[in-house]
Amino acid sequence: MTVSGVNTIGLIGAGNIGSQLARLAVANGYDVVVSNSRGPETLQGLVTELGGNARAATAAEAAAAGDLVVVTIPLKDYESVPVEPLAGKIVIDTNNYYPQRDGRIAELDDESTTVSELLQAHLPASRVVKAFNHIGSADLTTAGTSSGTPGRRALVVAGDDAEARATVAALLEEFGFDAVELDSLAEGWRIQRDTPGYGVPADVAQLRDHLTEAKRYRDM
Ligand SMILES: NC(=O)c1ccc[n+]([C@@H]2O[C@H](COP(=O)([O-])OP(=O)(O)OC[C@H]3O[C@@H](n4cnc5c(N)ncnc54)[C@H](OP(=O)(O)O)[C@@H]3O)[C@@H](O)[C@H]2O)c1
Repeated sequence: MTVSGVNTIGLIGAGNIGSQLARLAVANGYDVVVSNSRGPETLQGLVTELGGNARAATAAEAAAAGDLVVVTIPLKDYESVPVEPLAGKIVIDTNNYYPQRDGRIAELDDESTTVSELLQAHLPASRVVKAFNHIGSADLTTAGTSSGTPGRRALVVAGDDAEARATVAALLEEFGFDAVELDSLAEGWRIQRDTPGYGVPADVAQLRDHLTEAKRYRDM
């Protein structure tokens, strides 16, 4: 049973997180189109592993093919994400800000915006949802459990659009995780790097506590 209206998941980025989400997607019955910066020919090993429901393409093609698309690249490259083919679509943003990797981004340093709001500003006609940013990639395929399992791991879904959040929450559910929603992208800072819930296994109640306890960098 796949999430309503989503048959194909496009992935922009096929590294640690992208490849793991592709594995989960295929295991749950989705078609996937994976892409990276170097071109589809460099993804043949992954596509072979994923099997017949996967193919590799350019980022623009993955964006166009996906009913839902995941952006999972180093944040510094977010402005290269194709805009037009993502119009009208739900776009999951897994990205985090690491200045050592990404360089200094002034609007993030002064906390006048957040990581996923940057992507939303770049994709004004898309519905960006922040998800999968606070779980280590290895855990994606090992930490999931079935619904109702005591202590089931919970993950944040943050976004401005309630329907888009619900779709991504349903996807998380299929992938083995409970969802805790934050009802705006602006609130996504509560699960950014160095907050209590970042990378820490937690169930719904614990994750809610972590979100409540989170502090802005300026208040740390
Ligand atoms: N690693 C984790 O456990 C983890 C957990 C949660 C969130 N995150 C965040 O999620 C994002 C991805 O992390 P990752 O660890 O998966 O990174 P990664 O292993 O370095 O993979 C990045 C992927 O993005 C591709 N890429 C780079 N620039 C691109 C572009 N302009 N267009 C299309 N694809 C591009 C790379 O392709 P090439 O190899 O061809 O350059 C690669 O496939 C980061 O923001 C990270 O902070 C990571």
